[in-house]
Amino acid sequence: MPPRLSFAPVRNFAKQGNLTRRMSSQPKVYVTRPDVDDSGLELLRKRCQVSTWNETIPVPRCELIREVAGKDALYCALTDKIDKEVLDAAGSQLKCVATISVGYEHIDVQECKKRGIRVGFTPDVLTDATAELTLALLLATNRRLFEANKQVYNGGWKSWAPMWMCGQGLKGSRVGMFGFGRIGQEIAARIVPFKPAEITYTTRSPRPQEAATVNARRVDFDEMVCNSDFIVVCCALTPETKEIFSTEAFQKMKPNCILINTARGGVVDQKALYEALKNKQILAAGLDVTTPEPLPLDDPLLKLDNVVILPHIGSADIETRKEMSRITARNILAALAGDKMDAEVKL
Ligand code: DGY
Repeated sequence: MPPRLSFAPVRNFAKQGNLTRRMSSQPKVYVTRPDVDDSGLELLRKRCQVSTWNETIPVPRCELIREVAGKDALYCALTDKIDKEVLDAAGSQLKCVATISVGYEHIDVQECKKRGIRVGFTPDVLTDATAELTLALLLATNRRLFEANKQVYNGGWKSWAPMWMCGQGLKGSRVGMFGFGRIGQEIAARIVPFKPAEITYTTRSPRPQEAATVNARRVDFDEMVCNSDFIVVCCALTPETKEIFSTEAFQKMKPNCILINTARGGVVDQKALYEALKNKQILAAGLDVTTPEPLPLDDPLLKLDNVVILPHIGSADIETRKEMSRITARNILAALAGDKMDAEVKL
């Protein structure tokens, strides 16, 4: 357990000198985004000296390395790579790295563990928002909403036509969930009212209780890729899941298969996906996450009609993002005080 830091209150200072002394005894926190909701930053400012990167683009690495030096805690986002070099630059007083995200693959947690640095993240709070966005993306992809909407503006809409802009319904389909954690379960629950024939899931270990609530059947990866009409990727990015959706996997999929990914771009071999979409090996894809992010404007995926791409907005609902900001702040305050964090990565 790291040593407790004392938090000096900042109210009612009669003299400027006192204030300066108090401030210098407060823990120092560096925040890599100026655009997180202020309610989180306010919580930190009451008890810590807070400095922030001041542009809405990710903090350049050299700036991060300079600014993190001497800090007691780091408030970061998935756009920041927190590795050995950053932790070395911070110094041995660093007690906490807290990310405003549920994913933490951008943090070298093993390095944190070695140094006794606690890692905070924001699971649960974003589950519903992400499940909702996944459904929106799925429906936009299978019913070709963006493609159809373009026709309204470009003159492609000549008249109602029986087979024009038809998509593939969820009703009676086989839906495979790749990953069945909190988010996967909530997505599955939202798919049930669309009356699929079957929901299957692929996970390392069985989750019979959770599966029972949506009547889902556990299958191995091969069975899922071979038999699904929809595949929803909602797993964490790990060495095991990295680019698991490979050329080989796409070759096994049915030609009407639609792939939805709101997890991490790295789970999919994007070149293989492009080939599969271009050659109509699969029907379509809906992606909220890509490699890299942002996707360059000349990326070949952007030339295809059968892909819908969103700019990583899974958890982007206002109340969710506000609460994520507060949880990240509370995680830091708890770690600095040696208390239980709202959500701590088990190291
Ligand atoms: C996360 O939290 O990991 C999402 O991808 C961004 O909100």
